[in-house]
Amino acid sequence: MGCRVGFRERQQTRRGALDGRVALVTGSTSGIGAAIAEGFVREGARVVVTGRRVAEGEAVARRLGPDARFVAADLLDDVASRDVVARTVEWFGRIDILVNNAGTPGQAVSVTDLDLADFDRALAVHVRAPLALIQHAARHMLPRRSGSIINVASVSGLRAGFSGPDYSIAKAAMVHLTRCAAVDLGQSGIRVNTISPGPVATGIHAKAVGAAGAAADEVPDEPLFAQFLPQFQPDPHIGRPADVAATAVFLASAGARLINGENVVVDGALTAGRPWSVAEAERTAMEQAVQATGG
Ligand SMILES: NC(=O)c1ccc[n+]([C@@H]2O[C@H](COP(=O)([O-])OP(=O)(O)OC[C@H]3O[C@@H](n4cnc5c(N)ncnc54)[C@H](OP(=O)(O)O)[C@@H]3O)[C@@H](O)[C@H]2O)c1
Repeated sequence: MGCRVGFRERQQTRRGALDGRVALVTGSTSGIGAAIAEGFVREGARVVVTGRRVAEGEAVARRLGPDARFVAADLLDDVASRDVVARTVEWFGRIDILVNNAGTPGQAVSVTDLDLADFDRALAVHVRAPLALIQHAARHMLPRRSGSIINVASVSGLRAGFSGPDYSIAKAAMVHLTRCAAVDLGQSGIRVNTISPGPVATGIHAKAVGAAGAAADEVPDEPLFAQFLPQFQPDPHIGRPADVAATAVFLASAGARLINGENVVVDGALTAGRPWSVAEAERTAMEQAVQATGG
């Protein structure tokens, strides 16, 4: 007779890479953050899920079971940032892992047209709030001389032209925030790393063109990206939230003990260079153009 083992039973019987750890994952009401929270719980961690949307956040926490709890917070509010760390420690007794994942899409405008208030908001969500959360979390990690902090940036922080300049500049600053924090906190046993994903199938792309909340999360990205991804990403598969979650689990685990200040790029070779077939087609077209001129 077949034996069906449920999520909770598996949790109780296997040792996970994050057994006993406590994590705060920002931006976990949907997309990549929800997948990271799920990956962490699967590996034995207790997780605080957070974001502004209450119904979505509660649904994620409910799905993950008793090892996850949700607290609503708008991270543009400094007091809320402080409180979300305090709540994590109050509920679970400690904080071992902080994932700065909350983010918003960029404005699709040229540098000259970029509204400075939009720019301030991009820096606030992608740089200021992560910095504030690092400060609050570090206060609990420093006495224990251990902790793992992961900042979710983007390939847009490494290459311009993939998204709005506000987002791109803010993500580049986030990559450097990681380095600044790593050389400081690394001396006290706290690791700080970046994950820079390429395009990942989440609601953020629909939100960039005006769709809202849960409706945006339902727009299927894979067919949209299949049209043009092969033009610039050598492995033409769009990323899935689980791809980023697997990287986060590894970076948070003891296996990454000596990885600190690093930027782990999860992008199907997008930042490595152009797809060879695209470059080759251009070279052939150039050859034909030269031959046509009799050269
Ligand atoms: N999808 C991609 O292609 C891609 C590629 C590279 C990097 N990234 C990065 O990955 C991260 C997650 O994005 P995603 O693709 O998973 O999109 P998503 O599903 O839209 O997730 C964004 C999350 O950020 C939260 N958030 C936004 N503003 C917030 C605020 N002021 N306070 C608190 N929470 C806030 C949202 O929660 P609420 O709406 O509930 O507040 C949501 O949970 C972002 O940092 C994004 O820049 C995504």
